[in-house]
Parts: sequence; C-alpha cells; structure tokens
Amino acid sequence: MERVNFNDRVAVVTGAGQGIGRMYALALARRGARVVVNDLGVTRDGSGADTSAADKVVEEIISAGGKAVANYDSVATMSGGENIVKTAMDSYGKLDILINNAGILRDKSFLKMTEEEWDLVMNVHLKGAFCVTQPAVKIMKANNYGRVVFTASISGLYGNFGQTNYGAAKLGLVGIMNSLKLEVAKYDIKVNTVAPNAWSRMTADVFPPEFEEKMNPQFNEPMVLYLCSEENKVSGNIFATGAGWYGRTAIVSGDGVCLGDAKRSISVEEIRDNFHGISNMDNKREHDSGLGMFEYMGPLLS
Ligand code: NAI
Repeated sequence: MERVNFNDRVAVVTGAGQGIGRMYALALARRGARVVVNDLGVTRDGSGADTSAADKVVEEIISAGGKAVANYDSVATMSGGENIVKTAMDSYGKLDILINNAGILRDKSFLKMTEEEWDLVMNVHLKGAFCVTQPAVKIMKANNYGRVVFTASISGLYGNFGQTNYGAAKLGLVGIMNSLKLEVAKYDIKVNTVAPNAWSRMTADVFPPEFEEKMNPQFNEPMVLYLCSEENKVSGNIFATGAGWYGRTAIVSGDGVCLGDAKRSISVEEIRDNFHGISNMDNKREHDSGLGMFEYMGPLLS
C-alpha cells in the first residue's frame, strides 16, 4: 500500500509550538504538507506570550527540508482565528487540514473555581475551536474538501477531579463536532475528535515519572494524521489515544422504555417501577444525529 502523504495539502495546527501539537506539525511536514504552526507561546495556565515557541518548530521543519510558516495569534478571538486562516491563505493559497490543539489548564475544585478560571479555559478550548474552525471551514467548503480534528480529553468524556471547566470545554468540542459533521458532510469535510494522552508540561506533575518515556506525545500523532488524510472517510467519531493504544469511544443510548400512550401523564411511580428498564444499556446504540432518538419513541409517535 502507498505511504500516506500530504503532498499538496496545507495544514493549520494550533498550539503547535510544543507538546503534542508540535508532533503533528513535524509529522505533517515530513509527509509533504505545508504547515501553519500556530502558537501564542503562553504558560500552561495561559499567561504571557512568546513568539519563539512557533518559530522554533518552523525552523525545525524548514531545516529538515519541509515547508512551514509561524503564526502567533490567540485562537480565543474571532480576529485571531481569522488571522490564523489568513496566514495559510496568504502563504499557501488554500487550507485543507485544521487540527484544533491549543490548550491551557486552570484546574480547581468546583466549589473554588472562579469565574475567570472558568472563562479563560472555555475561551481557549471551546470558543477557540469555533473561532478558528469557522473561517477554516469556509475555505474548505469552497474547495469541496477538508479534514478537521478537535482535541477533547478523557477528562471531558469521563471526568477528572478539579477539571470541571476543562472537562466542560472539552466535551463541548464533541458537541460542535456532532452538528458540524452534518452541516459539512456533502463537501467531503470530515470532522473528528481525539482524546490524546501524553507526557507534556500539562501532565508532567500529574502522571507518575515512569510515564515520561511511555506517554511519548509522538504516539498520538499517527492517529491524528490518519484522520487528516484523504484516505480517512469517517466523520463524527471520537478516538482516544496514548502510549500506543488507539480506540474509539462514543456516546450511546439504551433502548429505554415506552410508558403510557403519549396522551396520559406519567407518574413518578411509573418511572421508579421501570427504572431498571430505563437504565438498561444491554442494547446500546450510537446515532448519526439527534433524530436517531426519535426511533425509540416510534410506538408512541405513530
Ligand atoms: P502543551 O501545554 O504542551 O501545548 C499547548 C500549546 O497551546 C502551548 O504551546 C501553548 O502556548 C498553546 N496555546 C495555549 N493557548 C493558546 C492560544 N490561546 N492560542 C494559541 N496557542 C495557545 O499541551 P499538550 O499536552 O501538548 O496539549 C495539547 C492539547 O491536547 C490540548 O488541547 C490539551 O488540552 C489536549 N490534551 C492533552 C492531554 C495530555 O495528556 N497531554 C490529555 C488530554 C488532552
């Protein structure tokens, strides 16, 4: 089989100045893509700004014979997002691939969380994905081709102590994906989400020290590159990765129980008495859109 390549493709990777995003940028460039290396160069909690993070990765790519250009805008504003996409258009004339990867942390237990800590995290992860993806998808739609990846987290999918802000923002990205995949399906734009796991400055004080080698950020890169390739035909999926493990995760529902006849009201006692059936997930299923849920109500609606 032919090697997966990104010849003639233009990619934007946000937050690519270090950590996992840097791996995506280097790998895309090695396989032929022209890459916009976006990074605001902030600390882990989102403070400061430093152009050297993006510059270093661009230098690395160019000295290895690849093509890349730096962008230092914040993903967290619409003007920043538009400028990131403009950098791709001004430098390379198109945009095929967007990896929304930039991120910060402001961990705090829920009762101690401040409004500022909530807003900062939401702005970078959730609003940031909107601000970059909207201008990017405009270009992709015009070209009838695109690959978009959002970066969620197992924290958002399943929870993590002290990360209600981060987890909400990360699961919010799945919400963007679920609707966006429907809106762009006919333009060959595939939208997927990854939940990576890697040793980086984000996790260095959370993971045990022996994870440093095993949780190499590189192990997340091949999954994301595959999702960004022309060969990938899936859209609206979530993949978790880490240490060389790759798996799909999904939102599913059980069959549930139809009560009443859609005319009479249902009592609390009926819910109590049917709780086992309502909670049963033996026959769990995924749905391509929210409309799938109406299948369960079929007997009541017909
Ligand atoms: P990192 O801290 O090494 O890299 C994040 C990069 O994003 C930094 O270079 C930072 O300057 C940049 N950035 C932050 N705010 C920005 C903004 N407003 N505009 C542009 N750039 C900005 O983190 P890491 O570990 O590489 O994480 C990458 C992504 O993966 C993040 O979205 C993170 O939430 C996610 N993730 C990471 C996990 C891990 O195990 N490391 C686990 C789950 C998710």
